[in-house]
Amino acid sequence: MLTRSLLSFPALALASIVIEDPSNVISPSLWASDNAIVPDYDIAMVSSQPSAIKATHTVDGESSSANHVTWSATANDTSVLLVANDATFTGSYITFNKSGYSTNLDDASFWGFNAAVNVANASTAEFRHVNVTVHNGAAQFYSYGTDTVVHVNDAWLYSSGPVSHGLYASGNGTIIGRNVQVYSGGKRSSSFSGDSPAGYIYVYDSVAHAAGIGSATFYALGEIHAQNVVSLSENGPVVFSDGAQTTNLLDCDCKAGLLGGVAMFSSSERESGAKLNLTNTKFTTTGSLMPGLWFGNVIAEATLHNSQLVTKSGVLVVANYSQITQDFDYYAGYADNNNLKPAEVTVTVTESDLTGDLVAYNGSSINWCLGKHSSWTGYAYSGYGDASFDVTLDSTSTWTLTGDTTVQNLTDSRSSLTNIHSQGYTLYYNASVSTWLDGKTVSLPGGGSAEPISSSSSKRASSVRGSVRRSWRA
Ligand SMILES: *[C@@H]1O[C@H](CO)[C@@H](O)[C@H](O)[C@H]1NC(C)=O
Ligand SMILES: *[C@@H]1O[C@H](CO)[C@@H](O)[C@H](O)[C@H]1NC(C)=O
Ligand SMILES: *[C@@H]1O[C@H](CO)[C@@H](O)[C@H](O)[C@H]1NC(C)=O
Ligand SMILES: *[C@@H]1O[C@H](CO)[C@@H](O)[C@H](O)[C@H]1NC(C)=O
Ligand SMILES: *[C@@H]1O[C@H](CO)[C@@H](O)[C@H](O)[C@H]1NC(C)=O
Ligand SMILES: *[C@@H]1O[C@H](CO)[C@@H](O)[C@H](O)[C@H]1NC(C)=O
Ligand SMILES: *[C@@H]1O[C@H](CO)[C@@H](O)[C@H](O)[C@H]1NC(C)=O
Ligand SMILES: *[C@@H]1O[C@H](CO)[C@@H](O)[C@H](O)[C@H]1NC(C)=O
Ligand SMILES: *[C@@H]1O[C@H](CO)[C@@H](O)[C@H](O)[C@H]1NC(C)=O
Ligand SMILES: *[C@@H]1O[C@H](CO)[C@@H](O)[C@H](O)[C@H]1NC(C)=O
Repeated sequence: MLTRSLLSFPALALASIVIEDPSNVISPSLWASDNAIVPDYDIAMVSSQPSAIKATHTVDGESSSANHVTWSATANDTSVLLVANDATFTGSYITFNKSGYSTNLDDASFWGFNAAVNVANASTAEFRHVNVTVHNGAAQFYSYGTDTVVHVNDAWLYSSGPVSHGLYASGNGTIIGRNVQVYSGGKRSSSFSGDSPAGYIYVYDSVAHAAGIGSATFYALGEIHAQNVVSLSENGPVVFSDGAQTTNLLDCDCKAGLLGGVAMFSSSERESGAKLNLTNTKFTTTGSLMPGLWFGNVIAEATLHNSQLVTKSGVLVVANYSQITQDFDYYAGYADNNNLKPAEVTVTVTESDLTGDLVAYNGSSINWCLGKHSSWTGYAYSGYGDASFDVTLDSTSTWTLTGDTTVQNLTDSRSSLTNIHSQGYTLYYNASVSTWLDGKTVSLPGGGSAEPISSSSSKRASSVRGSVRRSWRA
């Protein structure tokens, strides 16, 4: 069960509205054995489409429609509906009932074998008022191929078993969901997911609940665009993003229980160009070590506008020499990928009030820019080894320090630094980078000061208080 709290109205801070999702109707405990299945991805890569996709209802190269029907499939590797090869399909008031396993998860990921509904090869489909229940691990709606576009409106989607994505697009396919309620109980079952080489996902006015490890609300491989989505990922982040992907969330309220609010990484060589854009959006992370935003082995840009990161850990951003593996449940190190590189992240914050710390590990860097009436309460420190921080403040934004902090490039539109509230702490800056400060020591409000890193006490950001794989199948 999800709750959306009314934090924008402080007087009602205790009030919450209960939002139903399909797990309130079909208890996941009835399907515990399905949800315990550990998917086997240690299988050979399939480089071309295997023999034809099986389905109990097929629309091939023609135009068709259906309404007020219940369609089902029970066999392994068999879809309920296949729409393929320049076909079009329009369906309303359809119940899809699917059981049967995927015997090859590469076929399921790359070609949609076993998906309840598979739309492929430049086909288009539009669904309205659909009820899909899948068991044993099946995707719900799969869109494959350039020029394939699937509209899913007013949909109720329930799944048990692994690799049961709600809306799933790959091979450049597009899927557009409106008023979708989705629950997945199994592992690696993100609610809205793209896959290689890219999937384009648009989701509006929807509710998503994913329970299993490896299951995010959004898995970005390609592009994710979402507006007004309320979600819970019990054992995953809100967003997984592997490589140079784009995620745009507007008016979303999302809660995550593992790894981070986002986990953005590259699964083999470090890639540059990952993008995250949060507008009027709130992330809540519930794990005691989980940051709001986590980056590893990637060069990324994030923008937060009028957004909130509420973290139990007190950490807003982590940039690490690390990545996420196919196990999807820990921050991996050199032993898992000896091509790892540090993360380099630029976060631009506007119209937002954020509380928490920035932590960089082992050569990683965070460039933190506050503008347009933003405030930040927190400090920056190294989790391990070298860490580099740049901080930019415009004249309408403020920073309240909660610990001594070392920055390389300090930029402040208020040259007097009166918008940096020190609370007695010291802000060290690198005089050879922040040259405009002329190496001066400047008193800050609150008793502390900004001073150059002294060459004698070489103050780089100090520590906390005192095998290459291909890209993952989503
Ligand atoms: C779905 O199919 C299963 C068996 O395959 C059956 O037991 C169940 O009643 C069906 N549900 C609906 C809603 O048709
Ligand atoms: C379907 O797949 C399951 C799980 O892999 C397997 O146990 C079962 O034997 C398969 N059924 C058939 C008819 O092949
Ligand atoms: C999609 O097109 C390819 C290439 O023509 C073909 O091999 C494949 O069977 C088609 N897929 C389906 C589901 O018909
Ligand atoms: C969808 O079907 C399931 C299984 O029959 C049922 O329990 C559920 O209430 C249906 N959902 C809607 C919105 O009708
Ligand atoms: C996806 O797009 C790329 C780049 O345009 C293209 O090379 C590739 O063939 C497309 N794949 C499919 C399955 O349409
Ligand atoms: C972020 O999303 C908002 C709202 O959709 C949009 O107006 C803005 O241009 C986007 N910013 C970036 C950097 O993409
Ligand atoms: C940082 O990465 C190291 C591996 O390089 C890992 O052991 C550690 O748990 C990670 N910590 C966080 C918070 O990402
Ligand atoms: C830190 O980075 C170096 C490479 O610069 C790497 O060899 C080492 O394993 C990393 N250590 C940790 C704990 O991440
Ligand atoms: C420091 O940051 C400011 C603002 O982002 C930028 O204009 C400037 O080029 C940076 N200086 C260096 C030396 O990187
Ligand atoms: C200060 O910046 C210079 C130039 O980027 C760099 O070489 C030096 O290591 C930095 N000093 C510290 C203490 O971080």
